[in-house]
Amino acid sequence: MADEALKRVRTRHFQRAKENGIKITGLTSYDQLTAGIFDEAGIDFLLVGDSAGNNVYGYDTTLPVTIDDLIPLARAVAGAVKRAFVVADMPFGSYETGPDEALHTAFRFMKETAAHAVKLEGGVRSAEQIRRIVSAGIPVMAHIGFTPQSEHGLGGHVIQGRGEQVEQLLADARAVQDAGAFAVVLEMVPAEAAARVTAELRIPTIGVGAGPHVDGQLLVWTDWAGFTKGRIPKFVKQYANLRETLTDAVTAYRTDVEAGSYPGPEHSYED
Ligand code: KIV
Repeated sequence: MADEALKRVRTRHFQRAKENGIKITGLTSYDQLTAGIFDEAGIDFLLVGDSAGNNVYGYDTTLPVTIDDLIPLARAVAGAVKRAFVVADMPFGSYETGPDEALHTAFRFMKETAAHAVKLEGGVRSAEQIRRIVSAGIPVMAHIGFTPQSEHGLGGHVIQGRGEQVEQLLADARAVQDAGAFAVVLEMVPAEAAARVTAELRIPTIGVGAGPHVDGQLLVWTDWAGFTKGRIPKFVKQYANLRETLTDAVTAYRTDVEAGSYPGPEHSYED
């Protein structure tokens, strides 16, 4: 949105950005230090994603993540920002049984973290949950296409919406819009499919591996910053190499301590 005068990003600013063709920027964040940096840099929204499972807790997937895992992280992020809109991710197993469970989970995030909205995965299958949460006055960001919480059901990290599957993607997009979502994440879908969804919807689309024809972009911060170990998805552009920087720094520290050159007199107190 790049409107630095904006004191606090609200859901209406997402809508306005789409109407005016202004791109929305989003990143994940799991702690107050990165949240503060991203907020000051003008990133529009921060997602306290269940990707914390991989990036904070060391799980292989997002499936083991619990509400109690995410609440302290969401509280830290929401407490660190002045302008950015903070979205808390609803983890696997916290909303699927129905609208009552979904609302209960959303209440916990809103009351215990000061986040501004929640996100949940699924299109048609999650529409009733979205409707109930929105009817309680809580903004919902939807998430369709590849939905990591269903990775076993989907047969792995598989691109969604290819060929005839685009009809299902469109049906999911319409369902979450009709249910009242203020924005929808499209993850790992072909650029052309994302363009069709974006053209059809009134609400903004936020792409994660969905090409350029969407209303905004979202990335997992540890991926673009070169902090993640191992392979990162093709759609990620790497803007830094924090892993190398930190490895060099820690190696230099260890070498200095072992050689007795740290601490020097400048790091020591006098009597
Ligand atoms: O948890 C997360 O980081 C996400 C994004 C990848 C969309 O859900």
